[in-house]
Amino acid sequence: MSTDLTAGPAARTAPLPGLALLASERVPRYTSYPTAPHFHAGIGPADYVDWLADLDPTQPVSLYLHVPFCEHLCWYCGCNAQVLRRPEALSAFADRLIRELWMVADAAPGRLKVTHLHWGGGTPTQLPPAVLERVMQAIADRYALDEDAEVAVEIDPRVMTPAMASTLGRCGFNRASLGVQDFTPHVQAAIGRVQSYDVVARTVDLLRDAGVGQLNFDLMYGLPQQTEGDCVTTVERCLRLYPDRFAMFGYAHVPWMRKQQGLIDASTLPDGDARMRQFESAAARLQAEGFQRVGLDHFALPDDPLAEAARAGRLHRNFQGYTTDPAEVLLAVGPSAIGQLPQGFVQNKTGPRDWSADIDAGRLATKGGIAISADDRQRAGIIKRLMCDFAVDLEAACGGDGPAVRRFAPELARLRELAAQGIVELDGGTVTVRPWARLYVRSVAAVFDAYLGKGPARHSRSV
Ligand SMILES: C[S@@+](CC[C@H](N)C(=O)[O-])C[C@H]1O[C@@H](n2cnc3c(N)ncnc32)[C@H](O)[C@@H]1O
Repeated sequence: MSTDLTAGPAARTAPLPGLALLASERVPRYTSYPTAPHFHAGIGPADYVDWLADLDPTQPVSLYLHVPFCEHLCWYCGCNAQVLRRPEALSAFADRLIRELWMVADAAPGRLKVTHLHWGGGTPTQLPPAVLERVMQAIADRYALDEDAEVAVEIDPRVMTPAMASTLGRCGFNRASLGVQDFTPHVQAAIGRVQSYDVVARTVDLLRDAGVGQLNFDLMYGLPQQTEGDCVTTVERCLRLYPDRFAMFGYAHVPWMRKQQGLIDASTLPDGDARMRQFESAAARLQAEGFQRVGLDHFALPDDPLAEAARAGRLHRNFQGYTTDPAEVLLAVGPSAIGQLPQGFVQNKTGPRDWSADIDAGRLATKGGIAISADDRQRAGIIKRLMCDFAVDLEAACGGDGPAVRRFAPELARLRELAAQGIVELDGGTVTVRPWARLYVRSVAAVFDAYLGKGPARHSRSV
């Protein structure tokens, strides 16, 4: 994959009409298509059970466990998370996770082979170590966890303990994502998350000593009071710890969805141009260090499977972001978790109380979802390739379903406008996002979103 995003400012010599508009456009992040705001209550637990029963037991699946609890709530947090510290309450939550895992296993046609297992949150390591181990044992009891499976967990370095690190090692975790965000004190104060370099360095040592060898660092740009220099300094400090991958997430300010973001002074947020420069400078620093850009916001060393998948056009995107995981089935447990099956998407009730009530009553906590049509599937394929490769061959995506020029005539008209702005190149049926404009890929993908503008969804700005 080309990595010349840093050629941006030079390649963009004149202000482009409509660009500011595009930067402020509010579009989905396309971790799925159709996107979650278009899920509806017409899909319930009975549909989910039917869909599970139809699974092909020979096909590997991915498993996602959502733990919506943290020790502290960070002001910028866009995730479904709340503070919960009592070990008994966390243990009761884990018992319900196990019950849900059993219900899913009961509905499936056989012992499912799991090739990717991801614990997200929130902060999964908020569970006491013995409790987390109990859930891992329950998974081993009811699912066939592949011996080469990627077993990953999201970590808040501020609350990592030696006991948790050795539990993760013993349970076979081989990848961890550490929330770092930014090391600069004024940014940390502005986002309500104070975390020293030493805390991160200690967590890295604990994890490596325990055998959790693959480490990702999550950084953010577009934070309040953050400058381009802050982003680069943070990258430089992180490099001293030799992580394998970086994610550089653009801060999504959605205070209408996440109340705690109201604590952030919106007048101190960088504008679209500043955000772009922050990202480009951080990206340039990482690329100078040999990291390859992967998708919209990930960086990996060239021999990392994620970088290899990106070069080979085998990159995938799901609710955890960019992944090497090709599984068509993602089974997800825990409050708000979203699963994907060949027939469509299902989402659990969001609030831990509502979710718990359903699990205690012995039923799956599905609050909604969407069955996917052939049209959805085709558009999902186009959007995924754009988000992963920054290019798509529409003729191939149409798969014999008529010529792309006819099938996607309105979309091609909109793409011609984006081509006039220098954002994409059109070559027959091939759409390529120009390297300098890659941060706008969500807006390009949105051209193929047949649901956009229908319903109540509000998204974060595109850049
Ligand atoms: C699911 S969170 C879990 C992080 C973990 N609980 C911690 O405290 O480090 C994973 C990552 O999402 C990113 N993130 C959280 N809120 C975000 C937002 N509003 N916009 C963009 N990225 C966000 C952060 O980089 C965070 O580390």
